[in-house]
Amino acid sequence: AATSAADAVRPLIRTIPDFPKPGIQFRDITTLLADAYGLRAATHGLAELAACHPCDVIAGIEARGFIFGSALAVEVGCGFVPLRKPGKLPVDTIGEDYQLEYGEARLELDPTLIVDGARVLLVDDLLATGGTAVAGARLLRRAGAVVEQALFVIDLPDLPGRGALSAEGVEAHALIAFE
Ligand code: PRP
Ligand code: ADE
Repeated sequence: AATSAADAVRPLIRTIPDFPKPGIQFRDITTLLADAYGLRAATHGLAELAACHPCDVIAGIEARGFIFGSALAVEVGCGFVPLRKPGKLPVDTIGEDYQLEYGEARLELDPTLIVDGARVLLVDDLLATGGTAVAGARLLRRAGAVVEQALFVIDLPDLPGRGALSAEGVEAHALIAFE
């Protein structure tokens, strides 16, 4: 059940105060990834959330969203499209600049990877302000995708990510929350 996945995942996430900036409680997933049972539990937990939202393809956000997004794509049997940090893709791209909890960044997409009207499930490790996920959804839509659902391992409900996504017409689902 999703509950047991959450129970397995939560204690494997490490919290680092004041990284990368003073005042940020950094939720570090590397301790989860390094644990065989934890990685599997996170993947299976995401697959249970995904089961309610059939999709044609999964899009993951560089870098941590690549790990869970590709594991989930293998688990549910669909393809994976990367939303990349700038300058990495070898073809013409479209891009979106955005702000996140501790800085600003840009995502790029090869729009030819998106079949017009494809239902795309957006995946990332963590939802904070929502800046990253909103930029990802906008980018995918500009390429012709239908984006209605986004999955995260971690939600930080004290930050406005869920509401920001909802305002864009995207529903957010997360395995666990850290207040
Ligand atoms: C982190 C995290 C999410 C984003 C969430 O990525 O993996 O993508 O921040 O923050 P937000 O909801 O405030 O936008 P980061 O840009 O640090 O990159 P990384 O995955 O390469 O570590
Ligand atoms: N990305 C944005 N905010 C974060 C946080 N508090 N911990 C880990 N990744 C993040």
